[in-house]
Amino acid sequence: MTMAIEKPEEIIVAAVASNGVIGAKGRIPWHCPEDLRLFRALTLGGTVIMGRRTYHSIGHPLAGRRNIVISSTLSETPGIILPPTFDAAVALALSFLAPIYYCGGAQIYARALERADAIYLSRMKANAEGDVFFPDIDPLVWQVVQEEDFADFVHLRYRRNSAEHGIAGSG
Ligand SMILES: NC(=O)c1ccc[n+]([C@@H]2O[C@H](COP(=O)([O-])OP(=O)(O)OC[C@H]3O[C@@H](n4cnc5c(N)ncnc54)[C@H](OP(=O)(O)O)[C@@H]3O)[C@@H](O)[C@H]2O)c1
Repeated sequence: MTMAIEKPEEIIVAAVASNGVIGAKGRIPWHCPEDLRLFRALTLGGTVIMGRRTYHSIGHPLAGRRNIVISSTLSETPGIILPPTFDAAVALALSFLAPIYYCGGAQIYARALERADAIYLSRMKANAEGDVFFPDIDPLVWQVVQEEDFADFVHLRYRRNSAEHGIAGSG
């Protein structure tokens, strides 16, 4: 019997302030252990893709996950794979046949929005001051399919509208 190999699911994971901020001076401008626990639980066992500055803000590879850091300047580092472009990172990640989590920053999110299947977004209940923002989520492309309330944030799960994949809708 032959088994079809399914394409790994591609998911954007982000925590976003009410005003769209995701970063300030190279860090996340809030400390929310509950969201960090959620991020860990969601991404364990998968492949994480992040930009070089996000990697620096974390400071080490994320345990229990395959770590891909996009950079053309970072020197070889144990525990991370270092493709120089977004496309090279995606090609590598797809070859591992595990769920792919796009973990920021802004340009990675913008590119991932063009191709991801889902967005897992923790929408913080407060504004934050910062210098890096999450890109716009087009409501024609994405719909909220799940919503869970936590003390400091609402966790939203978006799915790409099926028409976007050319599955539904004949006009
Ligand atoms: N709230 C959240 O969920 C969240 C998540 C992630 C990050 N953050 C925050 O966001 C900030 C970092 O984000 P950022 O947007 O400034 O930086 P970033 O995307 O993490 O890193 C930028 C660097 O990554 C590489 N890179 C990114 N996209 C690339 C592409 N398409 N092609 C080639 N190289 C690419 C380049 O590295 P080289 O210069 O080495 O080539 C670029 O200088 C921090 O404040 C961080 O704490 C927040």
